[in-house]
Amino acid sequence: MKITFCCAETNAEPWLAGLRAALPEAQVDLWQPGAAPADHAVVWAPPQQFFDEQPQLKGVFNIGAGVDALLKLRLPAQATVVRLDDAGMSVQMAEYVCHAVIRHFREFDGYEADVNAGKWSYRKPSERADFPVGVMGLGVLGERVAKALKQFDFSVLGWSRSVKAIAGVCCFAGTAQFKDFLAATKVLVNLLPLTPDTRDIMRLETLSQLQRGGYIINVARGAHLVEEDLITLIDSGHLAGATLDVFRSEPLPAQHPFWQHPKITVTPHTSARTLRDESIVQIAGKIMALERRESIAGIVDTVRGY
Ligand code: NAP
Ligand code: GLV
Repeated sequence: MKITFCCAETNAEPWLAGLRAALPEAQVDLWQPGAAPADHAVVWAPPQQFFDEQPQLKGVFNIGAGVDALLKLRLPAQATVVRLDDAGMSVQMAEYVCHAVIRHFREFDGYEADVNAGKWSYRKPSERADFPVGVMGLGVLGERVAKALKQFDFSVLGWSRSVKAIAGVCCFAGTAQFKDFLAATKVLVNLLPLTPDTRDIMRLETLSQLQRGGYIINVARGAHLVEEDLITLIDSGHLAGATLDVFRSEPLPAQHPFWQHPKITVTPHTSARTLRDESIVQIAGKIMALERRESIAGIVDTVRGY
């Protein structure tokens, strides 16, 4: 069995060594233009030329959870496209989102500013009941985040395409219930995949429906958010601020207003990183399962877009 590795901006050597150790029977090579046909590919942001030269692939394994960039390419029609299914990401995402929610809820930025100014000050504790947190996307990451928030006794709501039942989480589904979900939410966490249905989903019209003093945490994709609309709503006072890990253009351009906005916290697309060792174990296991014609989790529906 031949495996080809084509991952932009990734140090290939440790991945190749890890995949060779996990799949000792396989020949694992770094893809070069003109390389021999392989059975499976491990990819991140490959060029179109890669798929044009490898039309026979049986499996395409994306070393991330989101496949929006991959699905822009012409993929071999028969290939099974597989994304990372947690692989150590959900706990990172839960840490990041809980940290952002709690930092805002407990006003830790304000305390830090006071301490830096040498001030010993108290703020009136916020009411937890005034902070319902709504999680858009209740998949592998969103469900873990919703459950983690629940551990801190926040009132947690969730919204997904299909109907869910998650203990302690008030679940909404589909476009018909989106308005009710937004109206019941103060802190909005985005964990949707980027698809034609979800692009620009956070815009003036939708974000205005959040409770006054709302807060945005975007950890999915930059193109979910209309960035100018966020600034308009923060500057008008309808929203209190945002924590953003993803942007329409990455790296965030040096002149972008988000860098300096006092109510916006930015991080460099780091909320849930691909963990190499966990990912290699997961991908190697799935390659072997596909070879044995067994079913696997994490297969992408290329028509649905996630
Ligand atoms: P997932 O398991 O596929 O979950 C996606 C969720 O979104 C599902 O609950 C799905 O509903 C829901 N959904 C999809 N389209 C919808 C629509 N039109 N309306 C309502 N709900 C919709 O994905 P995941 O593994 O949790 O990852 C989610 C996203 O996080 C990824 O696509 C990626 O963009 C992002 N991500 C970001 C980072 C980072 O570092 N910032 C890291 C990893 C992932 P159903 O359950 O009904 O299908
Ligand atoms: C990162 O953003 C991922 O999709 O894994």
